[in-house]
Amino acid sequence: MAPAAASLSVSGPHALARLATSPLGSRKNAGLSVSVRAPQPVALLAVVPRRGRRRMVAAAATAAEMAPVASGEEGKPFVEEMRAVAMRLHTKDQAKEGEKEPEAPPVARWEPSVEGYLRFLVDSKLVFETLEVIVDRAAVPWYAEFRNTGLERTEQLKKDLEWFRQQGHTIPDSSAPGTTYASYLEELAEKDPQAFICHFYNVYFAHSAGGRMIGKKVSEKILNKKELEFYKWEGNLSQLLQNVRNKLNQVASSWSRGEKDHCLEETEKSFKYSGGLLRHIFT
Ligand code: HEM
Repeated sequence: MAPAAASLSVSGPHALARLATSPLGSRKNAGLSVSVRAPQPVALLAVVPRRGRRRMVAAAATAAEMAPVASGEEGKPFVEEMRAVAMRLHTKDQAKEGEKEPEAPPVARWEPSVEGYLRFLVDSKLVFETLEVIVDRAAVPWYAEFRNTGLERTEQLKKDLEWFRQQGHTIPDSSAPGTTYASYLEELAEKDPQAFICHFYNVYFAHSAGGRMIGKKVSEKILNKKELEFYKWEGNLSQLLQNVRNKLNQVASSWSRGEKDHCLEETEKSFKYSGGLLRHIFT
């Protein structure tokens, strides 16, 4: 996996948006219907360019008042755009909608070791913990929308690492792929909220999709099919994911077309950093 830097052969101001909104083929939830809840007051922090600098502006608005600024793909739930861009960055052997050439063996041929998998879990814990601290702190007020979604993974990973320790394994320190990604997320969270949200979406949704599949395969090969807490959610996972999709759509409805495109353009980096973590498992 580890889809490295992708080259997308489209250009123009709304290139990624056009890419994202082309027919979605046979994806399982192509007809995804996103239920829009009654407008709720949302604290917004918009980033608007001013005298060549980006300035944070706080404003209160309801979802209904958050009119799209530019034309383009308005009306289409933004998460569908994010998903379409992400799916194209997979390889065919990872997902049907993938378009990238494989640069790593398919998951079925990975020969994982407990040591490598532990490095992946430790770095994953650092990344999830970083995301969870950032939304709890909510330096940008609307990050608070993403607190306590039920998708959080820090506590589950702590339990899993404790289980490995009790089995006699040494838990490694976090390593470069995790620490580099965590610092990058901290930086984005302060300076570039749209890019930060791209990572937030990709990390949690990737884990619930391909991540679960990987966990199952690894467990069959080296953990005697033990199911780790990392792959268990309290309640109905589909509903938890849908709740987060709704919030993402609601928050992004106040973004300009340019801000949305900027968020979509960050997807490649999200694959690059997450790919670095996954690489622990198969190298
Ligand atoms: C070996 C690596 C990976 C495999 C095998 C894999 C596989 C998959 C599969 C099977 C799906 C579900 C497709 C569907 O809905 O029909 C999926 C969805 C997705 N993946 Fe991956 N993936 C991998 C890596 C990644 C990475 C590195 C990212 C980004 C950080 C990512 C982001 C996503 C996203 C955002 C979705 C959409 C989830 C949703 O709509 O609920 N994946 N992946």
